[in-house]
Amino acid sequence: MSEQPDVLQARLLVEVAAAASAAALEAIRVAALGRNGDVTRQMATLGKLPPDERKAAGQRFNTLKERVADAITAKAAALAGADLEAKLAAERLDVTLPARPEASGRIHPVSQVMDELTAIFAEMGFTVAEGPDIEDDFHNFTALNIPPEHPARQEHDTFYFPEGEDGSRKVLRTHTSPVQIRHMLTHKPPFRVIAPGRTYRSDSDMTHTPMFHQVEGLVVGSDIHMGHLKGCLRDFCEAFFEVRDLKMRFRPSYFPFTAPSAEVDIGCARDKGQIRIGAGEDWLEILGCGMVHPKVLANGGVDPDHWQGFAFGMGIDRIAMLKYGIPDLRAFFDADARWLGHYGFGAEDVPTLFGGLAR
Ligand code: DAH
Repeated sequence: MSEQPDVLQARLLVEVAAAASAAALEAIRVAALGRNGDVTRQMATLGKLPPDERKAAGQRFNTLKERVADAITAKAAALAGADLEAKLAAERLDVTLPARPEASGRIHPVSQVMDELTAIFAEMGFTVAEGPDIEDDFHNFTALNIPPEHPARQEHDTFYFPEGEDGSRKVLRTHTSPVQIRHMLTHKPPFRVIAPGRTYRSDSDMTHTPMFHQVEGLVVGSDIHMGHLKGCLRDFCEAFFEVRDLKMRFRPSYFPFTAPSAEVDIGCARDKGQIRIGAGEDWLEILGCGMVHPKVLANGGVDPDHWQGFAFGMGIDRIAMLKYGIPDLRAFFDADARWLGHYGFGAEDVPTLFGGLAR
């Protein structure tokens, strides 16, 4: 026996509302409105009714059919929305999670110290200058007032390249001082620059490696004197070693490219092989400096009657060892991950004067 249209409609609407998936909804649609569906079959029997009942019954079934079809359309849209919601929920990414569990790389002490000293000199108005590791004789020696027969050439234990076509031999730069010449030849004074970088000498023991690092400093202006040199280096050393009123000593010395020249010692205490900066009665040499020799200014295309300058050169590896208590220089270049894990620095701690040089 077939259901009354009201009952049929109510049942179908309940089924549609309860459909849990697009597939279930489609099955309901076929079972109701399909060719053999309940609604279709019942409508096919309308012809058997007496004509006066047929019209009213036909209208009821048309309304029923429309309601059920509308409900199915609405439900289909709701199910599609729910599908999308479920898909989005399943694919959700928590963008607040850390990108990696932990940064595992470490910054090498040489890189760290280069960043630290660059931060300090930048604060004093210096910019960074660069030159090539492979130098010619002119920039590495001659222009720096070290002529061919000069004894300083022998002291530098230079690595020479084979002779070129013109008979000259390139060298691995023995110091960063050639960057002074390169900078002067390409810039108009006044300027203040530092030039940190790699340097090379044929020498190897506890405190020397064939490749090492220096930082050169060059300040040229129209009223530069030794007082500026001393003030600048004092400010640098106190900031770098983080010691107030650091004991410092400027000892007269000789370099071909400066006159007068000095070597700078800082006060320290030596205790069972340990060195403490800023305390005690001992001295430790950390750099060479002086007023730029007039001939060197001239070789750099700077008129020595109008401009003066001071310069300095410092071993970066050495000040890194001193500041961070690293005993053996050779370990710097062993590429030992355990050593780097111990002496290295966090990659995200960029040294600044206001935020702290090293943490
Ligand atoms: N170039 C020297 C060296 O390697 C260091 C040096 C001394 C650099 C005095 C300078 C300076 O600029 O004025 O031993």
